[in-house]
Amino acid sequence: MLLEKTLDLDLEYSYYHCPVLRFGVTIFITTLLVGYAGAHSSSSSGKYNPCNFPAIFNFSWKPAGETYFGAPAGRYSDGRLIIDFIAERLGLPHLSAYLDSIGANFIHGVNFATAAAGIRKWNNSTGLGPISLVVQNIEYAQFTTRTQSLRNRGGGFQNLMPKIESFSRGLYTFYIGQNDVTSYYIGTPMEQVRDLISDTLNQFSENIKDIYGRGGRYFWIHNTGPVGCLAYMIDSLQIAPGQIDEGGCYFNRRLNDTVVKLRKQLPSAAITYVDVYKVKYLLISKAKKYGFKQPLKACCGRGGKYNYNSKYGCGAKMKVNGKARLIGSCKNPKVKIVWNGVHYTEAANKFVFDQIVDGSFSDPPMPLALACHRPTSH
Ligand SMILES: *[C@@H]1O[C@H](CO)[C@@H](O)[C@H](O)[C@H]1NC(C)=O
Ligand SMILES: *[C@@H]1O[C@H](CO)[C@@H](O)[C@H](O)[C@H]1NC(C)=O
Ligand SMILES: *[C@@H]1O[C@H](CO)[C@@H](O)[C@H](O)[C@H]1NC(C)=O
Ligand SMILES: *[C@@H]1O[C@H](CO)[C@@H](O)[C@H](O)[C@H]1NC(C)=O
Repeated sequence: MLLEKTLDLDLEYSYYHCPVLRFGVTIFITTLLVGYAGAHSSSSSGKYNPCNFPAIFNFSWKPAGETYFGAPAGRYSDGRLIIDFIAERLGLPHLSAYLDSIGANFIHGVNFATAAAGIRKWNNSTGLGPISLVVQNIEYAQFTTRTQSLRNRGGGFQNLMPKIESFSRGLYTFYIGQNDVTSYYIGTPMEQVRDLISDTLNQFSENIKDIYGRGGRYFWIHNTGPVGCLAYMIDSLQIAPGQIDEGGCYFNRRLNDTVVKLRKQLPSAAITYVDVYKVKYLLISKAKKYGFKQPLKACCGRGGKYNYNSKYGCGAKMKVNGKARLIGSCKNPKVKIVWNGVHYTEAANKFVFDQIVDGSFSDPPMPLALACHRPTSH
C-alpha cells in the first residue's frame, strides 16, 4: 500500500514520523546533539576514564533463540537482545533473570524484565503482565538485601551473588513503557491517554528515585520505539502502519522531560536518555539500505498481511489437514527486523545497539562505556 511503498522507496521521512514532523524544535536540538556527538565525542571522551562497570541491572520485559543460543533462552527473539550486546560490550556475561531459579548467577547483575510488563501497577483490566516495574522494584529491594546475607554465609555464594559495591557502581538499564502506551489505546480519547501517560511517568520517576535512594547512580534509559510499525498493532487495530504513534511520541517527549527533572532532583546521578525510537524508525523506513527486507512483516508467525495472527503466534501449534504444525520462523532471520510481530530479531537488535553504543543517539552524547559520568551542563 501507500505506506509500504514509501518505506520501500527509502524516503527520508513520511507523514507519521513523530519527532521530526510534529516537533520542529526538538528536531533542531536533537540534530545539534547528534552533530555534537559526531564532532566531539572522541575529544570530550578523552578527559574521562573508562567506567569499569562491574555489573548491569536491567529493568524491562519479554522471553526461541535459534540464531544465537540454539534453543529458547528466555528471550522473545531468535537471538540476543540489546541488553545482551550491552553486557558483551562491557565485558560482562549475559544476565540471569531474577525469576530463574535454576543455575542463575547474579554476580554481575540481574534482569528483572518479564513479558508484557508495564510501568504502572498491574490492574486486571489492562491486559498487561503482573510483574510491572513497581513489582520489579520490590524484587530489586529484596535482591539487594538477600544477596548480601547469602554472601555473608560464604562458600559458593561468594561467586554467585553481587558484591555490595556493585549496587552503587552498576549500570541500571530501562526499556519499558511501550506496553503501557498500547494498553491505553483501545477506545480511549487522546486527551485521556495523555493523563494516563503522565501518571505512568510519575510512577517511573518514583522508581528511579527509589533506586537512587538505595545507592544506584548510573542510569541508561531507552525511549519507546515506533509501535505503529509493529504487526501486532497494525494487524489487530486494522489500521495503516504508523498511524498510532501519537501516544508513543507523547510518552517519549514526557519521558525526556522526566529525565531532565530527575537530573535536577538527583544531583549525583548520571542519567543517559537513548533515542531508540529514532534508530528503529531509521531501520524500518530505510530497511533496504541497511540490508533488511520487508520491514513490516514478522519473521516468525503465520497469516495476514504481516505474517502475524494473534491467535496463532510464533511457537504455537496449528492444525493443518488434521496434523499439528509448529508456527516457526522465516528462512533468513538475518534480513528481518521484526521477530514475532511484537519483538525484534537479533539482527535488528544488533543494528540498534551498534547505532547507540557510541552515544550518537544519547543525551548526553556519551558512549556506553562512559555512562557513569555526568557532564557539568547536566
Ligand atoms: C532488558 O531485558 C529485556 C528482556 O530480557 C529486553 O526486552 C530489554 O530490551 C532489555 N533492556 C535493554 C536496555 O536492552
Ligand atoms: C485499571 O486501569 C484502567 C485503565 O487504566 C482504569 O480505567 C481503571 O480504573 C483501573 N482499575 C482499577 C481497579 O484500578
Ligand atoms: C478485576 O478488578 C475488579 C475491581 O477491583 C474486580 O471487581 C474484578 O472481580 C476483577 N476481575 C478479575 C478477573 O480478577
Ligand atoms: C529533552 O529535553 C531537553 C529540555 O527541554 C532538551 O534540551 C533536549 O533536547 C530533549 N532531548 C530529546 C532527545 O528530545
